[in-house]
Amino acid sequence: MWQTYLRPTSLTETLDLLAQYGTQARIVAGGTDVLVELQRGVKPTTTLIDVTALPNLKYIRYDQGSLSLGGLTTHDDIIRSAVCQQYAFSLVQACQEVGAPQIRTRATIAGNLVTASPANDTISPLLAQHAEIVLISVRGERIIPLRDFYQGVRRTLLQPDELLREVRLPAMSAQQRGLFLKLGLRRAQAIAVINASFLLTFNGEEVCEASITLGCLAPTVIHACGLEAYLQGKRLDPAVCQQAGQLVQDEVQPIDDIRASATYRRKTLTALITTGLQRLANGEGSGQTTTLLSQPAAAEPNQTNVSVPHPFADVIETTINGTPYRLEHAQQKTLLNALREDAGLTGSKEGCGEGECGACTVWLDGQVVMSCLVPAPQAHHAHVTTIEGLACRVPSSGYGSQLHPLQQAFIDRGAVQCGFCIPGMLMAGAKLLEEDPHPDMEQAQIALSGNICRCTGYRKILDAILSIGDEERNIDSASPTALSVK
Ligand code: FES
Ligand code: FES
Repeated sequence: MWQTYLRPTSLTETLDLLAQYGTQARIVAGGTDVLVELQRGVKPTTTLIDVTALPNLKYIRYDQGSLSLGGLTTHDDIIRSAVCQQYAFSLVQACQEVGAPQIRTRATIAGNLVTASPANDTISPLLAQHAEIVLISVRGERIIPLRDFYQGVRRTLLQPDELLREVRLPAMSAQQRGLFLKLGLRRAQAIAVINASFLLTFNGEEVCEASITLGCLAPTVIHACGLEAYLQGKRLDPAVCQQAGQLVQDEVQPIDDIRASATYRRKTLTALITTGLQRLANGEGSGQTTTLLSQPAAAEPNQTNVSVPHPFADVIETTINGTPYRLEHAQQKTLLNALREDAGLTGSKEGCGEGECGACTVWLDGQVVMSCLVPAPQAHHAHVTTIEGLACRVPSSGYGSQLHPLQQAFIDRGAVQCGFCIPGMLMAGAKLLEEDPHPDMEQAQIALSGNICRCTGYRKILDAILSIGDEERNIDSASPTALSVK
């Protein structure tokens, strides 16, 4: 997939490497887009420059009416941020729609922006909220409005030697309401068929300014300029909302593709715009008035296990299930392949190899990740837990001596059919239970939304997760698996 893996630890070093390698290198952080593209042979590259060890690039700041998001801010960081819920509400909603928990914990906003697909969920809310991006290279820094950044499908103004250092946007005011709506072919892990972001400024009941952006309807995400003009000075009564839905059809020339025909996109756009405006008219559109989905557990990093980012040089030294490993021939591999081929741990499965099925789910420094999307060097000096390490640790007996309660529940409930998806289901489900011993059905469904079972045994799998009672669980903070059986 790549020949050389570089992991600089300073911004200066990173920019020098970018200048040196230019088009031969690609930046990798969460890896959730880059590794999929490399698996598919899109934009092949010889060199990856891993920026996850850079200090001070993972932050969310609010200052004097402005929000700043560091280049390593993930979708999950946004979802969990009270500041973003207050000041960038539609962005939070969009982040909740991205992939699955295993993706949101790792995928960065910066990565989503530079991938530049018109279907990417975070572009439309950031465009509607008039965001700008800060690009940096050895030549200096430049600030570009997001509106000018996109040049076509997956084409941007980003130069090969530049790094997206920060996203800036004006914070929502008390007079504004925002909303993100997405139509996909399923509820999770779906690429948008169309999406729309609304940012309306009200003077009483009247719209005094409208910013509405549309995804998947043109080569880039676009503003619905005619609709924005129409809404100015209007009250959002039912007739106006209906009319707006009709008017927006004239602004787009949708594409036909595998997800939907142009006709379908045009007709559903009408419904999406009308519904969105009606919901805003009813007062939705801010953290105070709109309930977000339950926070997906199974994503919180285990702070006691987070490793200090470490420079990397060829040999991966890592701890897997409490045992130190030295992997000498895995630097060009995914973590999944390194686990299976180099560490001999074949419990984690490859179903799709591109982040769609969750069969490869493991914990990396306490977070659930899809190991097929993690470059193996990111496990250097980190702690990995695989299905082989899930069985509870009894100090006198070591790992694996007693089944994890969730494993037992899967057996008791008959939750296993062919078994291929089960390692991933267990790793995602056990992390959920570690973080919330009393999940409800919605949380369980969200936590497992990245895990697909081809035998379609979801009901019993969810029942098994919800079946575990307090008497069967006891948090053992000393254990990486954090659950022990009494
Ligand atoms: Fe990794 Fe399918 S998500 S193999
Ligand atoms: Fe067969 Fe899930 S039990 S894939």
